[in-house]
Amino acid sequence: MTDNNSDKIMVTGCRGMVGRAVVDLLRLDGDREVVALDRQALDITDEKRVVEAVGDLRPGAIINAAARTDIDAAEADVHVALAVNGRGVRNLALAAERYHVFLCHFSCAEVFEGKSSTPYREWDDHWPRSRYGESKDAGEKMLAAIWDGFVLIRSGWLYGAGRDNFVDRAAAALRAGEKVRAAGDIIGAPTYAGDLAAAAITLSDARARGYYHFSNDAGDGVSPAELAREIARLTGMPETLVEEVREADLERAPRPAYAVLRLEKFREMLPGLVRPWRDALAAYLSGS
Ligand SMILES: NC(=O)c1ccc[n+]([C@@H]2O[C@H](COP(=O)([O-])OP(=O)(O)OC[C@H]3O[C@@H](n4cnc5c(N)ncnc54)[C@H](OP(=O)(O)O)[C@@H]3O)[C@@H](O)[C@H]2O)c1
Repeated sequence: MTDNNSDKIMVTGCRGMVGRAVVDLLRLDGDREVVALDRQALDITDEKRVVEAVGDLRPGAIINAAARTDIDAAEADVHVALAVNGRGVRNLALAAERYHVFLCHFSCAEVFEGKSSTPYREWDDHWPRSRYGESKDAGEKMLAAIWDGFVLIRSGWLYGAGRDNFVDRAAAALRAGEKVRAAGDIIGAPTYAGDLAAAAITLSDARARGYYHFSNDAGDGVSPAELAREIARLTGMPETLVEEVREADLERAPRPAYAVLRLEKFREMLPGLVRPWRDALAAYLSGS
């Protein structure tokens, strides 16, 4: 790790929900040089460009927030998701290995089968049930096969600025007095993207290696319907606007019935960074 500038951090996918939160937080620290790259500046599916970019920039770390995250689009046609979430990650891992750059990458509970009744641990078996989950699993495997200088953070159901998400959609609909349909029979952990960004930066600064689970603390998990009712409470709208349905009624790509991640490993390393999901949601909706 010789010619790399440890104060320089390269962020790919910088216009996404996690990418922009990472860049905003990094820029608060004036001692760092942040190279924020959107898809136009660096398409991670282009192996040659990725290797050139890392070789030219020689950052101390890469935080890869680039991904194709549309689960239903991936189900209809997995090729683009595989190109970005699989081979794109491979390209970054190859460049990171070549120039000995630390690489932080993100994944999700969709790599698990979703039939557990207790939170998934970092080392549990993978069995993705959706094409999106397969594409994320492919990226995880390629990364691990190529370069060991990585931290991989799996996270929960994200919301935040920069992309259409369930929390913003539900809040807008409820504020307009419209009904919100939400499943009551799948369970996960709503997570503020800014909190995930803080976790990723802290783990990267510590050069933590291997696999971590991070989400806001939702205990044994909450359903989208519970999440929507909490949004109704926080926006002062009646909970009766939330229509609880079955996941199967939504006729979309399969989601894990159970998507809660065990947080103990992260908590042991960084106690204090995990907030309760209701606190994070309340702060987000009040704009604080
Ligand atoms: N969203 C969730 O609920 C969730 C949950 C757990 C984990 N994660 C993981 O967290 C990470 C970030 O997710 P996110 O929600 O922030 O995603 P996002 O909002 O969809 O942002 C992804 C960004 O990646 C860019 N991108 C797409 N293809 C690219 C390419 N070929 N090269 C470079 N950039 C490309 C997109 O740009 P364009 O818009 O221009 O295509 C977009 O700005 C992903 O690894 C995701 O799997 C997400």
